[in-house]
Amino acid sequence: MCGIVGYVGSKKATPILIDGLLSLEYRGYDSAGIATIEKDVIKVMKDKGRVNNLYNLEGINDLEGSVGIAHTRWATHGRPSKENSHPHMDNSNTFAVVHNGIIENYADLKEFLISKGYSFISQTDTEVIPNLIHYHYSNGPVSVIKDIKEKLLSAVKNAVQDLKGSYAIEVISPLCPEEIIVVRKDSPLVIGKGSNENYIASDIPAILKYTKDFYLLDDNEFAVVTKNTVTFFDSSLQEHNKPIKNIEWDANAAGKDGYEDYMLKEIFEQPTAIRETIGSRFRLGEKCSFDDIEISKEYLSKVNKIYIVACGTAMHAGLTGKTLIEKLCKIPTTVEVASEFRYRDPLIDENTLCIYISQSGETADTIAALKLAKQKNAKTIAISNVIGSSITREADYSIYTHAGPEIAVASTKAYTSQVVLIAILAMHFAEILDSSNKEVIENLKADMIDLPSKIEQILDNTEVIKDFAKKVYTEKDMFFLGRGTDYNVSLEGSLKLKEITYIHSEAYAAGELKHGPIALIENGVTVIGIITDDKLLEKSISNIQEVITRGAKTLVITNQILPNSHFDFIINIPKTNPLISPILSVIPMQLISYYIAKFKGLDVDKPRNLAKSVTVE
Ligand code: F6R
Repeated sequence: MCGIVGYVGSKKATPILIDGLLSLEYRGYDSAGIATIEKDVIKVMKDKGRVNNLYNLEGINDLEGSVGIAHTRWATHGRPSKENSHPHMDNSNTFAVVHNGIIENYADLKEFLISKGYSFISQTDTEVIPNLIHYHYSNGPVSVIKDIKEKLLSAVKNAVQDLKGSYAIEVISPLCPEEIIVVRKDSPLVIGKGSNENYIASDIPAILKYTKDFYLLDDNEFAVVTKNTVTFFDSSLQEHNKPIKNIEWDANAAGKDGYEDYMLKEIFEQPTAIRETIGSRFRLGEKCSFDDIEISKEYLSKVNKIYIVACGTAMHAGLTGKTLIEKLCKIPTTVEVASEFRYRDPLIDENTLCIYISQSGETADTIAALKLAKQKNAKTIAISNVIGSSITREADYSIYTHAGPEIAVASTKAYTSQVVLIAILAMHFAEILDSSNKEVIENLKADMIDLPSKIEQILDNTEVIKDFAKKVYTEKDMFFLGRGTDYNVSLEGSLKLKEITYIHSEAYAAGELKHGPIALIENGVTVIGIITDDKLLEKSISNIQEVITRGAKTLVITNQILPNSHFDFIINIPKTNPLISPILSVIPMQLISYYIAKFKGLDVDKPRNLAKSVTVE
């Protein structure tokens, strides 16, 4: 949540910072701000509203400095306003700070600072940070250090030691006008290396067009960034070296590439994303290969339980993962919402395998849930899309979806590539354990190889989907029904609809309907049914018939030949193995939400109240 950019070089910082903020807006978009060092002073421009608003502020182009920090905000403490926007300054205007994350003890720190004579302009937790830096710079042990650079870094370190919570922080000061000090804990921060210039960002795509060489800052690590140097320090300010990482993402992949919205682009990228996810992990007639994880038959035979832990869409991908693992590997598997799992003292021991799914790899609850399993000696595997992300650095093993950057807040290609990867993982475990018939696995592999071209078929026929969206976009409520993996994907369809169209929707296991929710079905209400499993065909049709009888308008997404029926709309999708059918049936649902949002004139890429990576609890 919230986006950070920084620049140190010889060019004017402002255009680079604004450009970075624009590509980071998916992390937060209720306010934006910038601070540069101009001779002996810090100049700050900020306001509520989107980055374009900042860009149009009078005087923004007069910021001449070539050292600057910038921020786009997703409000936690204090409503969106100019005062609450970052950067924040201390009372003496000597230190400017941008911050992602949450300072949990800010109220105590504020009280302490007020008792020392400091005053506050904003309601934010962040404003304590520049004032704490000032406090340490002017008082106590740090204040006697003679070298100004060392003194400033020590003041930042002491201030950070006072903080409880999560943070990625950039600090500038005219005391050391050629550097930016950065530090992180539980919130991502990367430094991009240029030639005679360096960049800082909370997400790689923000600066990908300037460099592919990155340093990934670790928790409790500090860096002092100048135009020619990046110097790293541990939490006690001992200097150390750090390897540089080359990120292969194509800078164009982080742009819209001619599509009206990132979400649409990412929906259409799914065939390519899935091909990349499959990569060389399997071929027909050969076993799946995972060089990146060492899971032996001896270990896997002892595993008594698997937890799949994630949030939101990633958790929905996990639901299909559970079905696959239980079916192919015969190991009991439970899917857990990370924010619940981390606090409910789950039964974990050394024979529990915990799999964490996170597109961004930065979701605070998922990371905390992973740390919990490690404390209890369970093996952990992270499935992520972002190389070097926090979760991949915490897990015992990490495997990547390779779906390319996902920028739209609503997750699409990440979901399908997560399901693909977990399906390959399930086949791999089954091959190790010899727990499934070889033919079953070979057939599944063949079906998986065909997925991209089947998705292309769906994407070539969007007219029915658009037509349906046009007819229902003014509705207030919708329901999704399915059985088995069709139920799993219904949950995802319903989430997508809520997120970007703001239409209230619920997803139910179709057989559960008559245990209560059917009371909500009345004349004209829209129900979307998903029917892809031959074995559940008749039962699913009966459930949809029950809502038709009560006056519902129905859309059925199916790969079956349905008896001549009373459904109002039918979207046909290609057949595949029911275990992986969500990868196909989710596509029309993504598009339905997309087109409804467009008909309503909404910003699909940046839905209200949401941000791309949820780095706060
Ligand atoms: C929904 C969506 C969210 C994320 C969730 C987890 O479209 O994007 O529900 O899936 O916040 O995010 P990651 O996968 O980054 O951990």
